[in-house]
Amino acid sequence: MLSAILSVALVLHSTCAQGTTSGSSLTNVTNAFSTSQIVPDVVNTFTPDALVNISFTDAVTMENVNVIPGMLLSMEQTAMEPDFFLVSSSSSSGSSANGTLVLALVDPDAPTPQNPTAGQFLHFLGGDFSADPTSGLLTNSSAALMDFFSPSPPAGSDPHRRFFRYVLLVFNQPDAFDTDAPSFVNATTQRNNFNISMFAQDVNLGNAVAGNYFLVGPASNSSASSSQPPLATLTSPSTTPTISPPITGGSPTPSTTSGALSRGTMLNSSQIMLVLAAVVALSVSNLY
Ligand SMILES: *[C@@H]1O[C@H](CO)[C@@H](O)[C@H](O)[C@H]1NC(C)=O
Ligand SMILES: *[C@@H]1O[C@H](CO)[C@@H](O)[C@H](O)[C@H]1NC(C)=O
Ligand SMILES: *[C@@H]1O[C@H](CO)[C@@H](O)[C@H](O)[C@H]1NC(C)=O
Ligand SMILES: *[C@@H]1O[C@H](CO)[C@@H](O)[C@H](O)[C@H]1NC(C)=O
Ligand SMILES: *[C@@H]1O[C@H](CO)[C@@H](O)[C@H](O)[C@H]1NC(C)=O
Ligand SMILES: *[C@@H]1O[C@H](CO)[C@@H](O)[C@H](O)[C@H]1NC(C)=O
Ligand SMILES: *[C@@H]1O[C@H](CO)[C@@H](O)[C@H](O)[C@H]1NC(C)=O
Repeated sequence: MLSAILSVALVLHSTCAQGTTSGSSLTNVTNAFSTSQIVPDVVNTFTPDALVNISFTDAVTMENVNVIPGMLLSMEQTAMEPDFFLVSSSSSSGSSANGTLVLALVDPDAPTPQNPTAGQFLHFLGGDFSADPTSGLLTNSSAALMDFFSPSPPAGSDPHRRFFRYVLLVFNQPDAFDTDAPSFVNATTQRNNFNISMFAQDVNLGNAVAGNYFLVGPASNSSASSSQPPLATLTSPSTTPTISPPITGGSPTPSTTSGALSRGTMLNSSQIMLVLAAVVALSVSNLY
C-alpha cells in the first residue's frame, strides 16, 4: 500500500524536494551531510529521496530522543539499539525507498576525529528491512550482518573538534544481497576500517536513498558525567583499549552504580543488567 501511494508522485519528487513546515526536509539533511563533510568523507554523493528517523531511548531516563540531523547526543542516550522510521512526507512521497532496505551505521572518526586511522567503524549493518505502511517503523526479517554497537567515543579528543559523527545510510536492497553480503561482512569481519562505499559497490547497493546522522561527545564530556567518572575511559586510543569502568569489585549494587550513571536514581535489575552488558561489551571490543 505504501508503495502504491509512493509511486503516485514518483515524477514529482525531484522537483519538490523542498521540505514542509515541520521536522527536517530532504534539503536539510542533504545540506547537513555536506556541511558536516559526511560528503565526501563517507559517501561521494548524497541525494536522498526519503527521510529516515533514528529514535533512541535514553538508557538512564528512558526518554525518547528523535534524531534531527547533526544533533549532539550523550552516550546514555545512544546506549540502546534505536528504532528506525522511514518518514513519509509531502516532500518525499515520490521516494524510491519503498521496498526491502539495507541499513548501515558507520563512524568515520575512529579512533579520533583528528586521526581517523580506524574509520570507518561499523556500528550496525543489516538487510531485509521494510517499513510499516502506517508508522514507517523499519523492521528486519533476517539477522543483522553486524549487530548494533553503541557509540563509545574515547575521552581525550582534541577540544577543537571533539564530537564523533555517526552516520546512518539506507539503501535499496538488491535481490542477491542476502547471498552476496556475507562474503564481505560476516562473523569474522572486524568493525574497524570498514568502507561503506566500497561495500555498496561490492554488493551493488547503488547510492543511499536516505540518511541521517548524530554526534556523540567523548565519555568525559557527556551529560551525566560532568562531575562523575565516565562510564568507561579509554586510556590510549592507539593501543589496546584499557577499560576503567565505574563498577569495581565484581558485584555491583544499585548504590554503587547509581552515582555514576543516574545521579542518585536507584537502578532496577533491568538497568543493572544493561550496564553490566555494556561493560562486558566494552571490555571485549574496541571503542568508538
Ligand atoms: C531546514 O532548513 C530551513 C531553511 O534553512 C530552516 O528554516 C529549518 O529550520 C530547517 N529545519 C530543521 C529541522 O533543521
Ligand atoms: C521524525 O523526527 C522528527 C524530528 O526530526 C520528528 O519531528 C517526527 O515526529 C519524527 N517522525 C516519526 C514518524 O518518528
Ligand atoms: C532483527 O534484528 C534484531 C537485532 O537487531 C534481532 O534480534 C532479530 O532476531 C532480527 N529479526 C529476525 C527476524 O532475524
Ligand atoms: C568474511 O568476511 C571477510 C571480510 O571481512 C572475507 O574476507 C571472508 O572471505 C568472508 N568469509 C566468507 C566465508 O565469506
Ligand atoms: C572507500 O571506497 C571507495 C570506493 O572504492 C574509495 O573511493 C574510497 O577512497 C575509500 N575510502 C577510504 C577511506 O579508503
Ligand atoms: C563539553 O565540554 C566543553 C568544555 O568543557 C563544553 O563547552 C561543552 O558544552 C561540553 N559538551 C557537552 C555535550 O557537554
Ligand atoms: C526498570 O526501569 C525502567 C525505567 O525506569 C522500566 O521501564 C523497566 O520496566 C524497569 N524494569 C524492572 C524489571 O523493574
